[in-house]
Amino acid sequence: MPMSSPDKAWKGRFTVPTDAFVEAFTASVGFDHRLYRHDIRGSVAHARMLAAVGIIEEREAALIAEGLAAIEKEIDEGRFPWSVGREDVHMNIEAALIERIGEVGKKLHTARSRNDQVATAVRLYLRDGIDSLIGQLQRLGGVFLMLAEREAETIMPGFTHLQVAQPVTLGHHILAWFEMILRDSERLIDARGRVNVMPLGAGALAGTSFPIDRQMTAQALGFARPAENSLDAVSDRDFVIEFTAAAALIMIHLSRIAEELVLWSTPQFGFIELGDGFCTGSSIMPQKKNPDVPELLRGKSGRVIGHLTALLVLMKGQPLAYNKDNQEDKEPLFDTLDTVRDCLRALTELLPATTFHRERMRREALRGYPTATDLADYLVRRGLPFRDAHEAAGRAVRLAIDQGVDLADLPLAALKTCSPLIEDDIFPVLTLEGSLAARDHWGGTAPRQVLEAAARGRQRLADLALRSAG
Ligand code: ARG
Repeated sequence: MPMSSPDKAWKGRFTVPTDAFVEAFTASVGFDHRLYRHDIRGSVAHARMLAAVGIIEEREAALIAEGLAAIEKEIDEGRFPWSVGREDVHMNIEAALIERIGEVGKKLHTARSRNDQVATAVRLYLRDGIDSLIGQLQRLGGVFLMLAEREAETIMPGFTHLQVAQPVTLGHHILAWFEMILRDSERLIDARGRVNVMPLGAGALAGTSFPIDRQMTAQALGFARPAENSLDAVSDRDFVIEFTAAAALIMIHLSRIAEELVLWSTPQFGFIELGDGFCTGSSIMPQKKNPDVPELLRGKSGRVIGHLTALLVLMKGQPLAYNKDNQEDKEPLFDTLDTVRDCLRALTELLPATTFHRERMRREALRGYPTATDLADYLVRRGLPFRDAHEAAGRAVRLAIDQGVDLADLPLAALKTCSPLIEDDIFPVLTLEGSLAARDHWGGTAPRQVLEAAARGRQRLADLALRSAG
């Protein structure tokens, strides 16, 4: 970015030019140039409103809009001469407008301040960013549902404390991931409602002496309403914090899923094989196939959590109204949007390219006596209080361990030494399939329930799409 020090917008008040280091130190154009489309959208709506209420002429508003459109094209095509001396995206564009259309360009900033201007641009930018992330979450949700339906009958060990606990279906496990990201989508939709409020008209802090029509500008920009209080409108960045908090939760979920994928892809688990396109090898160990993509999903959660912390600390202690501190909201916000976007894309593309080793999962589900609870439940159905049933089933596990066999392989006579209530109808109960089929209720892991939950999931995704569009 070329350094140049053009005349400042505030040159009237100053006698000594800005120190060169201070100019660079206070500039934000190096990163906030990303706001250009949204800044221009806000400016065009503002100019049209100024004309509609008679503050400038229609002809002038048209010239401003045309000039801004030409500038937008120049920026799109990478031909725009950004200047650090002009500090930020807003003053770069305004100065370029004045150069291009002359005196009329100087009228754009009537009844406006950079404080309400920047808050508006950030809100418009973030609104688009949220909409695009919601779309990505919906696509990922679709992949989860496709996999859950495909793997509705695939048996795997369910874990607590990372120890084999009870058998579950892989479909059920994947539907747990689906629930996480569905809540993430709802959180984004919810945050969007508080982003979608228009600061323009707040001026620097106290509003404006011109007879503006804020409803008109808000409507033109698709905002739900103008902000209620001018001091609050220019100063609070809680909407950025709230979004970043929702984004941090998305990253936590992706990180947890990624951690499972990393574990599952080890030879020790052997549950999955990631596609070659999503892994790398080692420069020294020829046998290695490293799960880089899930590891990065896990690692990148740290950045977003860090951004959330930075933004919270940035806001804390700021008196009303606008303070330059707020210029520091942009890099964390932009990096959060980029990181979540890339991570969602990575997981959405990685999962369909993953092979699930069903036989291996089933074999591992058999280890660790995961149907011991089913034996206890069986005894309860025969009239034994649960605590006694638990003890009897524990004795059966002890026997099986001693004999080096599975629970279902113990002879009936041996099982009967644990409880005389056990009959030969126990054997189907002790199988993995029997255990799964028994959990046949809303939210349970039985294959039938998984298919029904996935069908409801499709409807919930569709409802979400309607809500986010509305
Ligand atoms: N670049 C500034 C920001 O990001 C724009 C607002 C500056 N306003 C001011 N009065 N200095 O917040």
